[in-house]
Amino acid sequence: QTIYLKDYTPFGYIVEHVDLTFKLHPTATRVLSKIRFTPDTSTSDKMFFLHGEQLKLISAKIDGQEISPSYVEGGLQADVPDTAFTWEAEVEINPEANTALEGLYMSNGMYCTQCEAEGFRKITFYPDRPDVMSVFDVRIEADADNTPVMLSNGNGVSKGEGFATWSDPWPKPAYLFALVAGNLIAHTDQFTTKSGTEVDLAIWVRPGDEGKCAFGMEALKKSMTWDEEVYGREYDLDEFNIVAVDDFNMGAMENKGLNIFNSSCVLASPETATDGNFERIEAIIAHEYFHNWTGNRITCRDWFQLCLKEGLTVFRDAQFTADMRSEPVKRIDDVIALRARQFPEDQGPLSHAVRPESFQEINNFYTATIYEKGAEVIGMLKTLVGDAAYAKALDLYFERHDGQACTIEDWIKAFEDTTGRDLTQFKLWYSQSGTPEVTVREEYNGETFTLHLSQKSAPTPGQDEKHPQVIPVAIGLLNTDGEEVQPTMALELNKAEQSFSFEGHTTRPIASVLRGFSAPVILKQDIDNTRRAFLLAHDTDPFNRWEAGRDLARDSLLGAILEGAPHNAAYLDGLKALLCDETLDPAYRALMLGQPSQSELAGVIHKMGQIPDPAAIHTASEALRDAKARAFADMLPDLYAKNQVEGPFSPEAGPAGKRSLANAALALVTRLDGGATASQQYAHADNMTLQLAALSALIDAGKGASALQAFYDQWQSDRLVMDKWFSLQVMHAKPADSATVARTLTQHADFEMKNPNRFRSVMGILAMNHAGFHHQSGAAYALLADWLIKLDPVNPQTTARMCSAFQTWKRYDAHRQSLIKEQLERIATQSNLSRDTSEMVGRILDA
Ligand code: ARG
Ligand code: ZN
Repeated sequence: QTIYLKDYTPFGYIVEHVDLTFKLHPTATRVLSKIRFTPDTSTSDKMFFLHGEQLKLISAKIDGQEISPSYVEGGLQADVPDTAFTWEAEVEINPEANTALEGLYMSNGMYCTQCEAEGFRKITFYPDRPDVMSVFDVRIEADADNTPVMLSNGNGVSKGEGFATWSDPWPKPAYLFALVAGNLIAHTDQFTTKSGTEVDLAIWVRPGDEGKCAFGMEALKKSMTWDEEVYGREYDLDEFNIVAVDDFNMGAMENKGLNIFNSSCVLASPETATDGNFERIEAIIAHEYFHNWTGNRITCRDWFQLCLKEGLTVFRDAQFTADMRSEPVKRIDDVIALRARQFPEDQGPLSHAVRPESFQEINNFYTATIYEKGAEVIGMLKTLVGDAAYAKALDLYFERHDGQACTIEDWIKAFEDTTGRDLTQFKLWYSQSGTPEVTVREEYNGETFTLHLSQKSAPTPGQDEKHPQVIPVAIGLLNTDGEEVQPTMALELNKAEQSFSFEGHTTRPIASVLRGFSAPVILKQDIDNTRRAFLLAHDTDPFNRWEAGRDLARDSLLGAILEGAPHNAAYLDGLKALLCDETLDPAYRALMLGQPSQSELAGVIHKMGQIPDPAAIHTASEALRDAKARAFADMLPDLYAKNQVEGPFSPEAGPAGKRSLANAALALVTRLDGGATASQQYAHADNMTLQLAALSALIDAGKGASALQAFYDQWQSDRLVMDKWFSLQVMHAKPADSATVARTLTQHADFEMKNPNRFRSVMGILAMNHAGFHHQSGAAYALLADWLIKLDPVNPQTTARMCSAFQTWKRYDAHRQSLIKEQLERIATQSNLSRDTSEMVGRILDA
């Protein structure tokens, strides 16, 4: 069953107030609801329908009178008075049997909830839609010995032996409801808001994890300060609680006043978390906190508007990370991720608009397109209107829509009203799917330098025709000495073809185009490697300087893959000069050492109209790393030594950047010394960043066995570190061994299918090992399909999400296509396949 944006109709009733009582029991929890409804006189639809799924109705009353409602698909209907009335219901649910991790479920003996998008209907009967907002009072009762801590949204009102009550004064949709109860310990702190309110902060964890909360707490306080300073947004309750949960489908959830986190996205200590983990935790804490305004105070009218809160909140968390750490490094990281996750989605069968027009299962739309491309769209808007107008538009948006459930139209209108600009064409970014291609041609005559730009978008599912979009193309011009003769400015490309001229250039300038990756497009520029080498050495825009190196690496790899050409010496020379340049941030130099991933290369080759060969791509990628190791042999030991960090561990950007450069050097050194340096590093590592990098290098050198065993013995009892142990082995498996390595790990006593993190650490990583996953035997395809079939009845959300491993299948040769098709059809024909998985497989097969 497909749901359409165009079919939106408001609910016919206003929910004045919600009272909930939970009598918690692992297998038979009772939920009592008392809800005050008033007919909404501004609407015509007076059908009274409440969502409800997997609920055992014990009793239902209207104004105190027992009624028997009629069950309909997905909920119930009842005859109700045409004036205000009170609905009361008692239902029974079974949290322990809830392995889908949606609604109220149990994780390691603790109760927790996940309601976004449509999980509240598994808790009680309710109009479970984001445009129905209400204030909630909650009472929780539980066995005091096993469940001493009981949390819900808002402010704690009272607690005693076996009960707690909570009140949330801010009207909210049901998807922001949360409840947590169990044996938990708090890491506490305080924050005073700009206007002087004292807020009690707490991160709640299972006993044993209390030493892993300090970093998350610092990140929370930094986020609170930042949102006050940059967006003028203050926190609005007396307490703010965060809970770490081991079994969680996603990263985290912004429930009002009670954020719930996948433990991997909040718990960290130097011994157990890598620098990458620390940075991610800081960003996710910020993201969920920022939702308090962009998502909670102003929410979405319907789920088609998901990007309204997600795109904006991702954009805000990226600004925060750029401010806390390095702006260029953050931008480069984000573009790498966009190309790795969003581009393949947008260029394959799952392509959808940032605001889709239809869906079957909303959980399948928490995608890179809605989140990351959604954030890019906000970035473009900011570039087009300028920083000051952006700030003004945001102020208006907050002022005008506080307490409302909004649409993209409301958002755009705030910009139109503050800037006077017509944004009709810009809005195409929300409705048109696919990655536009921008082609640049240069012309120079006399003193005039001209950039001829054109744009084109390939058809995507359901959208054969594309219209020109508004694309901000940031450019700069350099002279041949590498001096900037035209500082960065944004050209506004809004037609199929357009030319921009620059006067007064007595010598031909060198253009640096799409600076800072100013739009999520594919840039096609007919320039040679000499020009790229010049930009690599001189571009004043750090993103484009990195991009020039990336283009050189890609060109070198394509030459090797498609023509057997040797690797490009100019690239290696240019890179070497940069690596030794100590005026450059080590984190930036580490990014420079990277190269396009194998799946990115497969995508590029496919776009060139050729068929990618995963084995050849793997060989060439490894050969380029070998070539780097040889070309830099004389300086690598020095680079490694100079970037060792002295003193106590700090997860900040400075020392983390040095470790990333040293570890990048270690990976190359290992190709020369067979693992001697890596085994020393492993022996002396006192933090997870160094330990894991050393272990990876040893596995790559074929000498990982004893270190892997030692690592296991050391970390066996730490679930998050064990996830790393699983994923590392699959990530570093040789192409022909990948499926076997993964299969063997699924037989390991510590493999748990029901824990999404553990499942992904084997199966998700298998799909990311490009040459292994696409090995011609088809063994990895079959193994993944086996496990998706096993997981679907247990956890449809995680299963459906992982089906996207197959989304690129049409890129590959006929043999691989038929192997993948066979597996997709095998999944599709399972009986009782979930709506989640059946939608995903259906869309992928429809290609
Ligand atoms: N709103 C959450 C976040 O972005 C993600 C929730 C995802 N839930 C889901 N059912 N897919 O922080
Ligand atoms: Zn979010």
